[in-house]
Amino acid sequence: MPHKQLLIVAHAPSANTRQLAEAVLRGAQHPDIENVKARWIPPLETTPEDVLSADGIILGTTENLGYMSGALKDFFDRCYYPVLEEKQGLPCALYIRAGLDGTGTRRAVESIVTGLRWNWARDPITFKGEWRNEFVTDAEELGLYMAAGLDSGIF
Ligand SMILES: Cc1cc2nc3c(=O)[nH]c(=O)nc-3n(C[C@H](O)[C@H](O)[C@H](O)COP(=O)(O)O)c2cc1C
Repeated sequence: MPHKQLLIVAHAPSANTRQLAEAVLRGAQHPDIENVKARWIPPLETTPEDVLSADGIILGTTENLGYMSGALKDFFDRCYYPVLEEKQGLPCALYIRAGLDGTGTRRAVESIVTGLRWNWARDPITFKGEWRNEFVTDAEELGLYMAAGLDSGIF
């Protein structure tokens, strides 16, 4: 059976955010998931072709100055129109690492996702405030949730 592709487009400029992206990937690569190939690509390196070949996408970003990271914005700037027609309905999820807020980032990404007509597979998650180790568990669970949904054909 052909593999489904789960694309993780996550900006990870710090040790904590790297832990989050790695945890999402680890969850998505859970041994029980048989039919899904998950990849993590930093947003600055992600191309429209990566999105076109994806069956599901997890976005990850820091909040910087009340908005998504410039890196994730660059991803949308380059990939929005090349994927707009073909990827409507793409199951997506989002996690945000924010020092204290995260709402501006969530609003901005939600508005772009609405424009793209992607489908939220689950509500966005904001990892807010001082760093907590539970964030890693939740990130891993997010990766597993998306991969399991693709694997079982729910999304
Ligand atoms: C230039 C800069 C701007 C930031 N702006 C915000 C902000 O507007 N809202 C917020 O909640 N956190 C903000 N932060 C905090 C970052 O979101 C946080 O440091 C980042 O997600 C990395 O998390 P970590 O410190 O756990 O590695 C900012 C950080 C930097 C460096």
